[in-house]
Amino acid sequence: VYSDQTTASVAVAGRIATLIRKKQAAQQPAVLGLATGVTPIRVYAELVRLHREEGLSFSNVITFNLDEYYPMKPDAAQSYVTFMNENLFDHIDIDRKNIHIPNGTLAADDVAAFCLEYERQIEELGGLDLQILGIGRTGHIGFNEPGSAPNSGTRLVTLDDLTRSDASRDFGGKEKVPAKAITMGIGTIFKAREIILMAWSAKKAPIIRKAVEGEISSEVPATYLQLSDNVEFVLDFNAASELT
Ligand code: F6R
Repeated sequence: VYSDQTTASVAVAGRIATLIRKKQAAQQPAVLGLATGVTPIRVYAELVRLHREEGLSFSNVITFNLDEYYPMKPDAAQSYVTFMNENLFDHIDIDRKNIHIPNGTLAADDVAAFCLEYERQIEELGGLDLQILGIGRTGHIGFNEPGSAPNSGTRLVTLDDLTRSDASRDFGGKEKVPAKAITMGIGTIFKAREIILMAWSAKKAPIIRKAVEGEISSEVPATYLQLSDNVEFVLDFNAASELT
C-alpha cells in the first residue's frame, strides 16, 4: 500500500524496467501483459520517462494487451490500440511487430480462431513474464466479467452493464459503448509468472475489499487471484481503505 498513486506507479514501472534490463542482459525477450484504462497511465508515463531520460530500451520487449472492445476500429479514439499508442508505444523504441492487441475488426466467424492464435503466440514465447492488471467495479480483470470461469482462455465476452456505464464517458453515452469485447481469460492471466493488480482511489475500495478478503467466487472474478502465489496488489491508501 502506497501513500498515493504516483509513488505506486513509479514503483511498478521500476519493477518492469528491472525485468526488461534483466532479460536484456540474458539476451532474452521480456514478455509483458499490458492493461488499458486510467489505472496504468502513470506507470506508462514513467516508462516513457525512463526511456527518454535513463536510456531504457524496449527493443527486447514483446507485449500482449489484455483486451479490446468488439467491434472496434484500431484508429477509433476509444480503441485500446489508440490508447496504447498515445500512452506508451508512440514514445518508446518497441518494435511494432512485437505489439499484440486483440483485433476488434474481425468478422464474427473469425474471432474464435484469432483467440486460439493469441493463446498460441503467448505460449510459444514461454508465457507472460509479467501481467499488469487494473480492476473493474464488477470485479473484472481484463474483461472477465462475473460468471467467468477460472480456466477461461482468450474469447469474446459480453460486457457487464456497470462496465458499460463506467466507460460511457469515453464514448459519449452508455448506448455507444460496444456490448462486447475480446479478452484474455482468467486462465491466460493466471499463467503469467508474476501478476500485479493496481487500484487507486476510494471508488475502488469496496471491490478491492471483496477481491482480497471475499469468498472466492465467479461472481467476483478478481477473487480467483487469491489462489495464486504470484499475485501482488499495489494500492494507494484510498483503494486500501476498506481492508480489515
Ligand atoms: C483494461 C482492463 C480492465 C480495466 C478495469 C479498470 O485493459 O482490462 O479490466 O483494468 O476496467 O479500469 P480503470 O483503470 O479505467 O479504472
